[in-house]
Amino acid sequence: MSFRISGTGSRLAEKVVTNDDLAKIMDTSDEWISTRTGIRSRHISTYETAGYLAVEAAKSALSDSGLKAEDIDCVICATMRGDTFTPATACKVSEELGIRAPAYDVNAACSGMIYAFDIADGYIRSGKYENILVVTVEQMSKLVDWEDRASCVLFGDGAGAVVLQKGDGLKGIHISCAPSTTMIYGDSFCGTSIYNTTQEAKPVLHMQGQEVYKFAVSAMMAEVDAVLERAGLTTADIDYFLPHQANMRIIDGAAKRLGLKPERVLTNIQTCGNMSATSISVLLDEYAKKNTFKRGDKLLLVAFGAGMTSGACIVEWQA
Ligand code: UT7
Repeated sequence: MSFRISGTGSRLAEKVVTNDDLAKIMDTSDEWISTRTGIRSRHISTYETAGYLAVEAAKSALSDSGLKAEDIDCVICATMRGDTFTPATACKVSEELGIRAPAYDVNAACSGMIYAFDIADGYIRSGKYENILVVTVEQMSKLVDWEDRASCVLFGDGAGAVVLQKGDGLKGIHISCAPSTTMIYGDSFCGTSIYNTTQEAKPVLHMQGQEVYKFAVSAMMAEVDAVLERAGLTTADIDYFLPHQANMRIIDGAAKRLGLKPERVLTNIQTCGNMSATSISVLLDEYAKKNTFKRGDKLLLVAFGAGMTSGACIVEWQA
């Protein structure tokens, strides 16, 4: 017995920045960004902290699940960087929601939510916990290099949350890492050690776009094949495909190779851009709130990201 999804929530940063807005402050255009990526606008934090976004998403998911703070056995937050490197953003969520349970963050870049689901699967399967709150939050606008037009235009900010309860909704899950630490990486602040001899680099995200692009489609295909096999299903059994929202051309390429009809492929990249670990969780909440999913529908979630991590899971909708 693993888990079922019993509640979802999300919170996007309020300010919407369009491609035309960006074209006013850097050498880019709506035409370049939209044809290369499918992105038209993204949400960018102004007054919001990562903690604020995470807490709002978590409150919404908890209320949607019908559970109370005291029912939650563990909080796992997938993020590349919260407001503080310690304590974990999951602790902020627990503090604000009044949860008294183990709480910690995981960093698997854009695959973070699937990695957190895999941890939750292990906990629930072992009988250790029954109700787990998974939160995802990224403020990509605070990580990217705003002088690098090839990467800063791609990303957005937001948080998502999912309440996982003991149940038989999870049909299969698979995570991987093909180790490479140079395709996408973000330098960290070096601190003030007087003994440090390593070079202080600009603490921003670096990405080799074309290398990542090549990795993306094959990694997604490999994860999908692995998880379908684990679940004993085929693509014909999948009702909705929720891929990581990195690039519309990557999504279209994957959907075509899987033979999925366009109406089965869910996207929000047009208005959200790439929100790393939080892309799929916001997408899930968005379509859950639109009542797109019917009981028994099988959702295939797949992601890839820095590391290079990847992962996929198949969840039957039982809410
Ligand atoms: O979750 C993280 C995962 N990340 C990804 O999945 C990213 C995967 N990669 C991609 O999506 C694409 O590689 C990008 C969208 C990042 C870039 O698209 P591309 O078709 O690979 O473009 P490119 O990097 O080869 O650049 C082509 C041209 C260059 O100009 P020249 O050298 O041909 O004159 C760039 O300088 O486009 C130029 N360029 C831009 N022009 C206008 C790069 N960024 C921009 C920009 N606006 N924002």
